[in-house]
Amino acid sequence: MTTAKLRQMKANGEKIAMLTSYDFTLASLVDEAGIDMLLVGDSASNVVCGNQYTLPITVDEMIFLTKGVVRAAQHALVVCDMPFGSYQVSEEEGVRNAIKILKESGCDAVKIEGGEEVLPAIRHMIQIGVPVMGHLGLTPQSVNQFGGYGLRAKEESEAEKLLHDAKLLDEAGCFAITLEKIPAALAARVTKSVSCPVIGIGAGNQCDGQVLVLHDMLGLNQGFKPKFLRHFANLGEAVKNAVSEYVSAVKDSSFPSAEESY
Ligand code: KIV
Repeated sequence: MTTAKLRQMKANGEKIAMLTSYDFTLASLVDEAGIDMLLVGDSASNVVCGNQYTLPITVDEMIFLTKGVVRAAQHALVVCDMPFGSYQVSEEEGVRNAIKILKESGCDAVKIEGGEEVLPAIRHMIQIGVPVMGHLGLTPQSVNQFGGYGLRAKEESEAEKLLHDAKLLDEAGCFAITLEKIPAALAARVTKSVSCPVIGIGAGNQCDGQVLVLHDMLGLNQGFKPKFLRHFANLGEAVKNAVSEYVSAVKDSSFPSAEESY
């Protein structure tokens, strides 16, 4: 997969499927199943590390996780999230961190939250050859400013700013934009207004593609069920059942059997 192919998919009206991944084993399965893009999201902070927010994860931790996903990806384009604090301080620091992430992890592109306020860093990255995916709407790195994970851009003024930001990101050369948790009608408007592919999460079905957090859509993260999430499997139950059978088999000495012994 390439950024040019993704643009072609938008032009052809072919939907783009993206999922998060954080490790080699699951990313191999997801890639084999035909995903177009793998996102090593900073949601790793929640899913992998058990933090409440995405804020604590570091550049080096993102690189560590991304390396495994890159080794797994035979087909998909791998995007690594730039974590909180790695691009907000200055354009120069942002560019330095983007280069470090690309060089050390081997990923194909980075994703950055925000619009006009981070545009200088994004422009500079794109100029030196770093493919950048934008991220607007509910940007989890701003959770403390938003005061939670509620729907964004309900009000006209925020919706207009989002549309303006999306056009700026598109003009700057972002190869794609993620729209998170905004009204479907606004996401449809943005999708029609920009030339790059728009990938939605909780943004309706008029976007050029969709992204979900892998552990959420597999039902591994059992406590989390926002309206936009569909469980495509119930692996949480499957894991618990398998582990409880294993525990019983160990306790009653039925595992390992003679056939399972040397
Ligand atoms: O970190 C992440 O998983 C993301 C997706 C929710 C788009 O940014």
